[in-house]
Amino acid sequence: MPILTATNLSKIYGSKRGVQYEALHQFHLSVEKGEFIGIMGPSGSGKTTLLNLLSTIDSPTSGTVTINDTTVTNLARNKLATFRRRETGFIFQDYNLLETLTIGENILLPLTLNKWKVKDMKKSLDVVTEQLGIGGLTDKRIFEVSGGQLQRAAIARAIIHNPTIVYADEPTGNLDSKASHQVMEALQFLNEQKQTTTVMVTHDPFAASFCGRVIFIKDGRLFNEIHKGDNRQRFFQDILSVQSILGGNTDDFHTIRF
Ligand SMILES: Nc1ncnc2c1ncn2[C@@H]1O[C@H](COP(=O)(O)OP(=O)(O)OP(=O)(O)O)[C@@H](O)[C@H]1O
Ligand SMILES: [Mg+2]
Repeated sequence: MPILTATNLSKIYGSKRGVQYEALHQFHLSVEKGEFIGIMGPSGSGKTTLLNLLSTIDSPTSGTVTINDTTVTNLARNKLATFRRRETGFIFQDYNLLETLTIGENILLPLTLNKWKVKDMKKSLDVVTEQLGIGGLTDKRIFEVSGGQLQRAAIARAIIHNPTIVYADEPTGNLDSKASHQVMEALQFLNEQKQTTTVMVTHDPFAASFCGRVIFIKDGRLFNEIHKGDNRQRFFQDILSVQSILGGNTDDFHTIRF
């Protein structure tokens, strides 16, 4: 039984001049519980569009998204907001942490919104920050820590309420190779140890090589899909091969880091 199912998803954007653009065309995707899935493809191919539809941030022009037996595309606005807050976690390229709060307060936001008890919040904060190697940073401010640490704090915030599914859009996009590596290891750890189902958009073949499955999209349609098997290095090479057939962005190729 998949945890996430997208059926016949299409997204047509309109423009001010009345010109329409179909960014996603009748897309199907099924994600099993505990999967770590990567979405790749050239710039403009529809990756963020797809992620926004799968994560309920945006609604499709047609088609349905079902998460854990709830057809989210049918939910009313207020129900959808509650669903999103409880069942999903988000990680963004630019972290989206609030500058006025400490790292710890940022991480605790989802629990504050869901009205948890202070004692339980403290306990959860200790557990996730330990898991992500940022245990000593909870009282620090945003400008006092590194990009890699900020992204791990953002990951902590995304998972602290044990969401059904975590979505990430270019989580290593602003990071150097060492910080990228740490962030991907953190996501891999959560996926393997806590069976956190994760859907990640990335341009970076190195980051994608941590996924169990990578789907490639081109012009809003599925182009190819490959699975990791037992060797990350080989998977990395497979990802590069599909990218070279797929064409598109040349900056997809400069991040070889073994
Ligand atoms: N709000 C919008 N209004 C109109 N067109 C849009 C909108 N958002 C995206 N598009 C168009 O839809 C297509 C897909 O965009 P999308 O952001 O999904 O691409 P992407 O694969 O995430 O690209 P990138 O790798 O550059 O982030 C692009 O042609 C884009 O210009
Ligand atoms: Mg994008």
